[in-house]
Amino acid sequence: MTHAIEDLIQTGSIHRSVYTDPAIFDLEMERIFNTTWVYIGHAQEIPEPGDYKTTLIGKHPIIVSRLADGSVTALINRCRHRGPIVCQHERGNSKHFRCPYHSWTYDNSGKLIGVPMPQGYGASFDREALGLVKVPRVAEYQGFIFGCMTAVGPTLEDHLGGITRFLDAYVQTSPTGKIELFEGTQKCGYNGNWKYQLENGVDPYHVGALHLSAVTPEAMQIYRQGRGCVIAMDGHGVTDHTDWGPMPVDASLSGGFNLVIFPNLIVLRSQIRTVRPIAVNRTEIHTNVVKLQNVPDEVNLRRIRDQEFEFGAAGTFFTDDLEIFERTQEGLQSGAVEWLVFSRGLDREEMKNGYMTGTMSDETQHRGMYENWKQMMMGPKTPALAAE
Ligand code: FES
Ligand SMILES: [Fe+2]
Repeated sequence: MTHAIEDLIQTGSIHRSVYTDPAIFDLEMERIFNTTWVYIGHAQEIPEPGDYKTTLIGKHPIIVSRLADGSVTALINRCRHRGPIVCQHERGNSKHFRCPYHSWTYDNSGKLIGVPMPQGYGASFDREALGLVKVPRVAEYQGFIFGCMTAVGPTLEDHLGGITRFLDAYVQTSPTGKIELFEGTQKCGYNGNWKYQLENGVDPYHVGALHLSAVTPEAMQIYRQGRGCVIAMDGHGVTDHTDWGPMPVDASLSGGFNLVIFPNLIVLRSQIRTVRPIAVNRTEIHTNVVKLQNVPDEVNLRRIRDQEFEFGAAGTFFTDDLEIFERTQEGLQSGAVEWLVFSRGLDREEMKNGYMTGTMSDETQHRGMYENWKQMMMGPKTPALAAE
């Protein structure tokens, strides 16, 4: 690293090392993913007591479980004996988790409840102290569950800030005010930095270029008219097309909004995407398709078919995006050019309703996210996790 963190983000430009330097990636895991609220799943993925899913918070493998009393807990999925992942399954229902190595067994609240041949450990063995370590804070907003690796700090609602208004509107698309998810998770990966997907989730500027072959003439005309706006909202990004129409029930390409909730959640039309940083040049994306309650079956069918057509494994939009992410990582290998340009709209953005707002093709929302990134990256180190 040749620049101080605060020098890597300039007004209107970003240094390439933000995307290419493994030391920056490690620092992101420590100062961003270890300190802020990270999306870990939706309540509808674990509706019943005993339901669980596994996921990641930065580099930490996590089990998210619904307990008998209906509450949700998140545990570090790492055996307290010698360290392997305890639960390898992606989803399931169980009251306990057994480590495959020597069969130490934990209940779904993390308590160590079984140790084979325990007499070998002698009197000083403290079973109470050897439960699975809990993620210090877990909280939910409109069914979206987040975990935070620090016990103190802003609440989830503080972290979400103004974007709660959009999450409220998103779930209100469902007549019951509650969303569900279709079975199954679409998984894919690309050889590039995780932040490309965050930028791209709120980047109308590229739609009429990269996706030229996929956008209908009508939608293209609306994009070119520059209707709607982009918003830098409390460190998150919004593209707001609601002047074109409200969030469409059938998820068609009209109206609504895209949300990028820093650092790892994207809510976009009929889908929720979780961004999983794996390495400085490797990212996975898990996508769940959102179902509405109390609507005709054909509406939900249209939602999943649209998602598959545009953002499925061979989707018309997604393949373009994944390809450009990999080409960007390749291009940024060249140290001959150090800076990327993020200045679009600097001269015309303005404060509206308390948030810096740009016209539809601007990069205002990206500048807001990177200012947030910079502040977090300059912040203090995370206090060590206390074992339970
Ligand atoms: S490593 Fe898990 S029981 Fe031994
Ligand atoms: Fe795209």
